[in-house]
Amino acid sequence: MKQIPQHVAIIMDGNGRWAKKQGFATRVRGHEIGVEALRRAATGAAELGIRYLTVYAFSEENWQRPKAEVDALMNILMTSLSKELPVLQENGIRLHAIGNLDALPSKARRQLDATRKATAGNERMVLTLALSYGSRQEILGAVQQIARQAANGELQPEALTEADIAQALWTHDLPDPELVIRTSGEQRISNFLLWQISYAEFVFLPVLWPDFSKEDLVEALEQYAGRERRLGKTSEQLTA
Ligand code: IPE
Ligand code: IPE
Ligand code: MG
Repeated sequence: MKQIPQHVAIIMDGNGRWAKKQGFATRVRGHEIGVEALRRAATGAAELGIRYLTVYAFSEENWQRPKAEVDALMNILMTSLSKELPVLQENGIRLHAIGNLDALPSKARRQLDATRKATAGNERMVLTLALSYGSRQEILGAVQQIARQAANGELQPEALTEADIAQALWTHDLPDPELVIRTSGEQRISNFLLWQISYAEFVFLPVLWPDFSKEDLVEALEQYAGRERRLGKTSEQLTA
């Protein structure tokens, strides 16, 4: 494939509907099988030469779900982090996380830190989990930090740049995603990376997340490769 994006972001949606369609009594089975889909997506992305894969795993708003589902999701996070460590190591994948991580149960936070440390030397791809993540909350935190610096006289408001804002976000060490994929047919952003995706391409796929395969990833990449990213210019300027 000619044009592989450096950074792909995925809104992994449709676990609950998948579980219902399969006749499972609870939505939790969908989340469990969703981990297998994430393994396929991450190893597939690494094989295809994608350098950064960021996945929306749990939103700030998802805390409002029934306690039983939130607890199950946190347990799945913890068990998967240790269970999938060999997969991360074998595929050269470095684990990273963004979000209001302090809100996670302390056991999950410790497991996350351990997996980050264990994979810190891997260089093929960075897999970022967005956990307890909300883009408006991220931007609010950045604004508070910048306002503090201005109030302390460390920063002149007129000297503030776009790069300073990007630096103050949780994603400060990641490039902006060129491609955002959302599964399950929903066509919305749900408070994901609002600043970072200002010029990203979007691909919405009907597949429910637990059924997501490497072929679906390739399909999204093909759609991406067929787009002309003009970034405000004209088509003629790009070919000149
Ligand atoms: C995505 O699947 C996973 C999370 C949001 C944690 P959902 O749980 O949203 O599944 P649907 O959208 O209800 O089918
Ligand atoms: C978005 O999915 C968050 C994740 C995929 C983790 P939701 O299913 O929670 O999104 P909405 O609320 O339907 O937009
Ligand atoms: Mg959903």
